[in-house]
Parts: sequence; structure tokens; C-alpha cells
Amino acid sequence: MKVDTKVFGSLSDKEEAHLFTFQNSNGITIKVTNYGGTVISILVPDRDGNVDDVVLGFDNIDGYLGKHPYIGSLIGRYANRISNGKFILNEKEYSLYQNDGKNHLHGGLKGYDKILWNYNEYADINRAGIMLSYLSFDMEEGYPGNLKVDVNISLGENNELTFEYVASTDADTYLNLTHHGYFNLNGAKDLIYDHELLINASHYIETDKHLIPNGKLIKLNGGPLDFNIEKPIGADISKLANGYDHCFVLNKRDVHPEFAARVRHMGSGRMMEVYTTEPAIQFYSSNFLKGIKGKGNIKYRKHLALCLEAQHYPDSPNHPHFPSTLLKQGEVYKQTTIYKFLTE
Ligand code: GLA
Repeated sequence: MKVDTKVFGSLSDKEEAHLFTFQNSNGITIKVTNYGGTVISILVPDRDGNVDDVVLGFDNIDGYLGKHPYIGSLIGRYANRISNGKFILNEKEYSLYQNDGKNHLHGGLKGYDKILWNYNEYADINRAGIMLSYLSFDMEEGYPGNLKVDVNISLGENNELTFEYVASTDADTYLNLTHHGYFNLNGAKDLIYDHELLINASHYIETDKHLIPNGKLIKLNGGPLDFNIEKPIGADISKLANGYDHCFVLNKRDVHPEFAARVRHMGSGRMMEVYTTEPAIQFYSSNFLKGIKGKGNIKYRKHLALCLEAQHYPDSPNHPHFPSTLLKQGEVYKQTTIYKFLTE
């Protein structure tokens, strides 16, 4: 495989974002920019060989500099919410930027979605990708510790789009990284109601109306949130106030990525499977999406796309019984999440 590199656009006189294109021999083409580590497009053939773009995004850098809700980007230092933008670590209270009411969301004012990452592109016979790296400085957005983050984003001949994250810090910190792709397996021609979803989860994390966990994990047994038996996203969505924006606790995790979710679009025959080492996955049905013009002049609207964000539980620093998101000095953080594209 090979990587095609070109300039994507300027952020300032000194800063230029690049665009990297990887293509495999099965007709899958992925475009990624080092601005926000953002996946801009994923072209996938349907069962008849017709190609569509299965993620939302923008044609040029300006779209990403505007007010876009994390479309296709990396998220850090902490994906999802931290209540009141506060946590206590080693007996010291830290205050984070409050960008979601009084809560902290997706890393704050300038999260990893707005960073111009250093890059190194690479390719071999079976895989092409970019290795992104960023040194997040001590007290950036209020978080302690100089944190070195590497994210390897790659496409394989096996049709897997893989995110491998590695991080280390010089002082204890909290960390929760994810990728925030907005998928529509029918090329955003219609809302996602006809996409069939299965989530390999035993529980979901109960939250208040601001999407902050109350500490309780609720067992899934039937009802609108239960996707243990595959069902169309549209089947029960109207029973929820605004749509899906829930964190699901995944069954058995390991050091190797395990099956987390599957989305199928019967009409086109496209299917996507998600595998991860993370303990949870946020299923978000783009409830807040509106008033944005995306690629090809398509008007982005509520429920046009779905996000499956592999991650730790929201607000973990304030819930000691949740799996820990603490990264200690000297330890290494690792995550692997895979989006695999198939046709049936
Ligand atoms: C996540 C959150 C949503 C929303 C989107 C971005 O999925 O859970 O509530 O903030 O990101 O708009």
C-alpha cells in the first residue's frame, strides 16, 4: 500500500495542515488530516461496487475551523464529561474549562480535536497509516502532567481502520482518549433509522439530564437501550427524549481488542464492526447536529449519523468505583480500537 500526502490548508502563516490518503486493493479509501487527527472521508463500496463516503466531514480546512461538533476528530485529554469541570487528584483539586453548561466536555476549549499533530506517514504491503504525536503540556486545559500522546491511524488490506493510542506522563493525570467519527453507511443520503445496530454490552451508565453519571450501572434487559439483539436504530428512538447519547458497559475486555458493536445497512449491504480494548462505548445518534453544511453541500441534521466512541466511563475521576482513568507517572496508557468495513 502507499500514502499520498498533500497540503490540506493553512491554519496560520506558519501552520499548515496536511491531508493523507490511504487506499487498499478492496476499493476502500481513507483521508485523514493531522489537524485534530481527523478522519475526513471513508469511501466504501456497496454490494454492487458503488462507492459512497460513510462518514460526515468537510471538503476543506475551513469547515473544521468553524463550530463543528468534533466531526471525525480525536478527543482528549478526556473524552465525554467531567462534572462541574473538577476532580481531585493526589489531594489537590483541579479545575477544567467548563464548555458544556457547567461541565467539562471532550477536553475543553482547545482539545485534541483542535491540535495540529506532528506526523510521520508510513506504508508497507498490508497497511498504510500515519503516526501522530503531540506533547500536551502541564496544566493544559487544567490537567496536570506533561503528557506525550501517540496515535497511529492506519488502514489495512483487511479493511480495518485502526486507532492505536499510547501515552505517558511526567505527573499523575486523568486520561480518556477516543475517536469521534460520525458514520452513515448509506453515504448520508438518509437518516440512520434503517441502520441495524448490535452492542455487546451488559449495562448502560445512568446519567442525569446533563449526561453526568449518577454512579449507577443499569442492566440491559429489553427496552429502547438494549441492542443485545440487533435492531434498527429507528425502532425505539422516538421513545427517548432526544435520541441516543448513552455510554454502554461492554462485555469481557482483554488486552486484545474485542467485539464491541456492529452496524448494518441492508440497503447497500455495508456493515461495520467495532473492536476495542476499552471498557465502554458511547453510542451517540447525532442529536445535537444541526445548521451545518458538510461535504458535497449536504445539510447535516439531527440523526443523520451515528458515533460509536470507544472509551472509559464518563466522569470516572469523580466515581472511584468506575474503572480507573488515572495514568500514573511512569505508567504507559494503551488503547486499540478498530472499525472494520465489510459488505454482505
Ligand atoms: C458526544 C457526547 C454528546 C455530544 C457530542 C458532540 O458524543 O456524548 O453529548 O457532546 O459528543 O456534539
